[in-house]
Amino acid sequence: MQRKQFVLLSVLCSSTFSFSFSACAKKKTNEDYSGSGRPPSSQTGVEPAPGQSDSGGKPATPDNGETAPGPTKEPIKLTYPAPDPELGEALGKDEVAIATEISSVIESQLADLYKGGQRYFRDAHPRAHGCFHADFVVDPAIPAEFAHGVFAKDSKYKAIIRFSNASHDGTVPDITPDARGMAIKLLDVPGKKLLESEADAKTQDFIFLSHHVFPISDPSKYTAFIKHFTQPGLANQLGTVQALGIKGAAIAAAMTSKSISSSIEIEYFSMVPYQLGVGADKSAVRYSIKPCLSNGKSTIPKGTKEPYYLRTRLNQHFEKSDACMEFWMQKRTNDSMSVEDSTNDWKSPWSKVATLTMKKEEQDNPATPDPANPINLACDKLSFNPWHALPEHKPLGVMNRIRKVVYDHISKLRHDKNKEVKKEP
Ligand code: HEM
Repeated sequence: MQRKQFVLLSVLCSSTFSFSFSACAKKKTNEDYSGSGRPPSSQTGVEPAPGQSDSGGKPATPDNGETAPGPTKEPIKLTYPAPDPELGEALGKDEVAIATEISSVIESQLADLYKGGQRYFRDAHPRAHGCFHADFVVDPAIPAEFAHGVFAKDSKYKAIIRFSNASHDGTVPDITPDARGMAIKLLDVPGKKLLESEADAKTQDFIFLSHHVFPISDPSKYTAFIKHFTQPGLANQLGTVQALGIKGAAIAAAMTSKSISSSIEIEYFSMVPYQLGVGADKSAVRYSIKPCLSNGKSTIPKGTKEPYYLRTRLNQHFEKSDACMEFWMQKRTNDSMSVEDSTNDWKSPWSKVATLTMKKEEQDNPATPDPANPINLACDKLSFNPWHALPEHKPLGVMNRIRKVVYDHISKLRHDKNKEVKKEP
């Protein structure tokens, strides 16, 4: 068993598994985290809402107000999401404290990574293959049960799509085995959004990875995992696999072990669920993105050393053709389809709901990701956050609740460090 765990971990490390947890290469000792055993943080702590306990495993009441401060001098208040038992959500033990701790560990890792004073990139997915202009058009034949929020019949929006590699190490060539990201930002979407600090932003984001399930659904394992993952030694390696479990480690290995020939030729998944609709019509759904057949199928040239292979591939495609990606949804149709456990697949039919078309004449992607280029800089300054969302598309499940605290904090942190204004387009 131990041998199997070690082999799995080696696959994880060699395949640059990261999301937010950073890579095996980043080694930090316990001493680095001062005497407390916890990393330093610009967050001052998270206050539970009056009357709400964060350790009882009980659902929180709607509109409770827990305070999660941001990284800047002025703490920014955000409300820890209230789980919706009607959609299968349940608050876990110590979620708010765990979310804050995850933010702190990431913050500490970023401070270590960028201690030379260079530009702070995203902790996860720093390597973009570009931001692309798209038209999001809801399918005229969308089934009525899916036609809510931005998927209302006849809806159309302009959008930005950011393709990325998952590894926290943005210097790794695109072609390296890794998970791939596709982040979509719809523009000019009216209505109040769920992220309090950007409630009036006109954006609706959807975030995808190139695997159908997420390796962790117990946030207490997540912190144990990142703590072990960033420290040296066999004991920590085994601790990492113990934190993920065999199933989680296998998912992570599968997810991060692929090289791809083009970002517009693979499928992407939301991995975690989202609400669809409000009131009596609400349901829980998962999303996926499929490439249009017209995007074609290419192969990776043998032995390619191209450092920006996926970027170049996209640019070559748009020199000649448009591209499109299809947006699909599946519904949670019974209680065995867990909203909280993101390691489990849902078995229910998928329906096509919209198409994203990227027109060749609208693309302006630079040949390298050099942030000195204003187009790359604009792309890097964007923040994709599942909580940039209308109530009709509320993110569900523990991983999404935690992301509300972490994404907001880390995005503010990097903008702050780069002395840039964090602003939705
Ligand atoms: C608790 C779980 C997770 C944590 C703590 C986490 C953390 C992060 C962080 C800190 C960032 C950078 C945000 C920024 O600086 O703007 C990020 C980006 C990203 N994450 Fe996660 N993540 C989690 C789960 C997921 C899941 C389930 C997915 C699956 C779709 C995902 C996909 C992505 C993608 C695609 C990006 C890059 C978005 C972009 O292009 O800007 N993450 N994540």
